Formats: sequence, structure tokens, C-alpha cells
Amino acid sequence: MLKSKILFKICGSIASYKSAYLISKLIQNGFEVKVVATENALRFIGKATLEGLTGHHIYTDLFAEGEMMSHINLIKWADLIIVCPASANTINKLANGVGDDLLTSLFLAFDWTKPYIIVPAMNTNMFDHPATQSSLKKLTEWGVKILPTAEGYLACGDSGRGKLLEPDEIYEHLLNALEEKQSMPAKKIKALITSGGTKENIDSVRFITNLSTGKTAASIADYFSRREHDITYLHARDAAQPNSNCRRIEYTSFDEINEKLRNILAENSFDAVIHLAAVSDYSLGSAMIGNQKFSAPLKQKIDSDSNEITLKLKKNPKIIDNLKHYSKNKNIKIVAFKLTNSTDYEANLSMVKKLFDHSNCDFVVLNDRGNRDGNVQTNFKIYNSKQETASCMSSKELAQLLEKFLINI
Ligand SMILES: Cc1cc2nc3c(=O)[nH]c(=O)nc-3n(C[C@H](O)[C@H](O)[C@H](O)COP(=O)(O)O)c2cc1C
Repeated sequence: MLKSKILFKICGSIASYKSAYLISKLIQNGFEVKVVATENALRFIGKATLEGLTGHHIYTDLFAEGEMMSHINLIKWADLIIVCPASANTINKLANGVGDDLLTSLFLAFDWTKPYIIVPAMNTNMFDHPATQSSLKKLTEWGVKILPTAEGYLACGDSGRGKLLEPDEIYEHLLNALEEKQSMPAKKIKALITSGGTKENIDSVRFITNLSTGKTAASIADYFSRREHDITYLHARDAAQPNSNCRRIEYTSFDEINEKLRNILAENSFDAVIHLAAVSDYSLGSAMIGNQKFSAPLKQKIDSDSNEITLKLKKNPKIIDNLKHYSKNKNIKIVAFKLTNSTDYEANLSMVKKLFDHSNCDFVVLNDRGNRDGNVQTNFKIYNSKQETASCMSSKELAQLLEKFLINI
């Protein structure tokens, strides 16, 4: 019986010859393999070897007669895509949306529910180059799996990072990625994920907002979509966006997110809301400019002549407290997030308890302002109404845990 279909992409690297061993191993283990090679890859390894091993014609030319739609069809055909070896040049092109040959155009047409693995191989300086490092980081953030490089003797005579991982090790990574893909959850959920921060207008050009980037929410939305859950992403205009094809709805202010949540939850039957949006506790009530009082937000831009302007903020209701009331599905599960700004464990715990008490939510994810790597949040603790149930470092692990809890509750 044939196993998964592997789209094997090869770039112009001295390590290209090692791809022949890996392809042979895949074929011997029952996989079906089709090869896409760059023009430069074919300077290092011959079509005869690759066609002989795979039993398939080798794809190189984006405009080859009779296969003009390969840049779309090969992605549809594949269960998993691997770039091995991946050259610095191609990695940088992929991360910058360049599609000037078949290999890179296929990435622009990529279906993000499938595993995409990059196995870099290059000289240490090429690997350490800021362009290559920032491309690898960007691709990782998009959900591409980048395998580590080995260290050791390189063809240029140097020794260091950038060496292609041993093909047997790459084979194991490939099996793991396929296993992860195949162990899809039996139960699929319909979830609404809120993301980003509200903006409260002061006048026609100024506003009050917060630090939320939407990155954690986008990463969770991507994970859930990859696992074929039905995801709606309710996001601030400038929030990070998931790569996957989920339904997207935009909001700006407190009033807008509140109204949209009310309508979306009333009209659709969701199984869960993962409420990551940082919703302003206060909106602008009024502004005193000189001795004149204006109700806010002001329609015009406030000019800069006044020495002092007093803004009065009015407290907003807690949206999280209303989600179950808004919802058509009265059994909906709510995941609330609490961002703290302290290392005082008892104080943080009491905030979690308070949140459970007033919101009637099912889970609280506690994260602290101190645990930010750049502007990426790390270090999450998950509570149910009784106790802490799990903790993890990254948004991907958080998504895995939330999926497990929401499916099994
Ligand atoms: C002998 C030789 C070996 C090379 N080995 C590598 C390599 O291992 N990794 C790499 O990134 N580039 C390597 N290059 C440079 C790439 O082949 C070059 O950047 C090329 O444009 C890559 O094309 P591609 O990304 O379209 O396959 C090598 C070049 C030569 C001449």
C-alpha cells in the first residue's frame, strides 16, 4: 500500500547529492515522491538519478508545456513538502514572498494545513548571515518547520554550523511531522478567537490603546485551523494575522468588539470562545479643553494650543462576563486570559479566582508582562475553576493544551 505523498524540493547546494539517499529511503519505505529541483540544483545532481529513484519526471520549469499548472497542482497532490537541502538563496526568497521559479511559486500557493519542512545546508557564514537568520525566524513564525543543522566539516574546508542534518535523522523528522498530521483529533470544534487590542478614539487622529499584538492569538488560530477546527478570528485592524484560511472579522473600539461578539455569538453556535483580545477597561467619556467641556470622542482634531487638556475616562462593562449570555449555545466554553504585571504568586492567584467568580468562564490562562521575548508572550499557566491544570512556554504548546481541554471537557 502506498504511504504519504512527499513533494521533495532540492536547491543548489553541495549537499544536494545526499537528497538521493533520503529519496531512496522514502521510496523503499513505500512513500510516493515527486521532485521539484531548482535550475541550480541540477548543476549538482542529475535528473537521471532523481527520475530513476522516484519513477517520476523531475519538475523544474514553471512554464513547461503540458504542466503549466504544476505550481498549484503539486501542492494539492502532496501530503508533505520538504526542501532538502535548502540553500540560503531559496530560504531568503521563500521568506520574502518571491516566486520566480517553480520551487518558490509553489510556496506562494502553499496550503497551510500541510506540513512544510526546510532542511538548511550551507557554509557557516551564509547560515549566520542576518538575512538568512531573519528569514528562518520569519518562516518559523509562519508555521514552517525548520530542522536544525549539524555541526562539523563543511565542503569549503571550514568546520561549523550549517551542515545538512544526516538523512536518516531527516527521515525521522519527516515521519514525526506526518504522524502529527495524521493524529488529527476525532472531534472538531467551532471556536471564536478574539485578538489584538481595542482603540478608543480621543479625537479624529488620536486614540488610547494597549500593547497587545495579536501574535499569540494568530498562532493559536493557525494551530486550530491546521487541526481542521472551524475558526473565526475576530481581530483588531493591526493585529497579527494567521496564515491559515480561517474566517476573519475586524473590530476597532470597545463598542465595536462588544457589538460584534453579541451578534456573532447570538447568530452562530460556537463550542468555544478563546478570548485573547485586550479590551480597554475604560473608554473616553469627555474632554475639558480650557474651560470648555466636550463629549468624547471629538469629531475634529484637537488643536495643540491649549496648555492643558483633561480627559475623563468612563468604565466599560466586562465583556468576558457577558459572553455566555450573548451565546446561542448555552453550553459554550470560555477561555479567558489574565495578563499580570507582578511576580507575586498569591496576588496573581487571587486575580485568577476573581476572574472565575465574575465571568463564569471555564479556563483562565495566566501570563505575565515580564515574560515577553521581544513582543512575543511566553510562559502560560492554565487554570480550571479548581486548580492550575497545566503550564507551558510557547503559544504552540498553549494551543495544543487548549485543544485537549476544549475537546475533552
Ligand atoms: C560548489 C558550490 C557549492 C555551493 N553550496 C551551497 C550550499 O551548500 N548552500 C547554499 O546555500 N548555497 C550553496 N552554493 C550557492 C548556491 O548554489 C547559489 O546561491 C544558488 O544561487 C542557489 O540557487 P537555488 O537557491 O535556486 O537552488 C554553492 C555554490 C557552489 C558553486
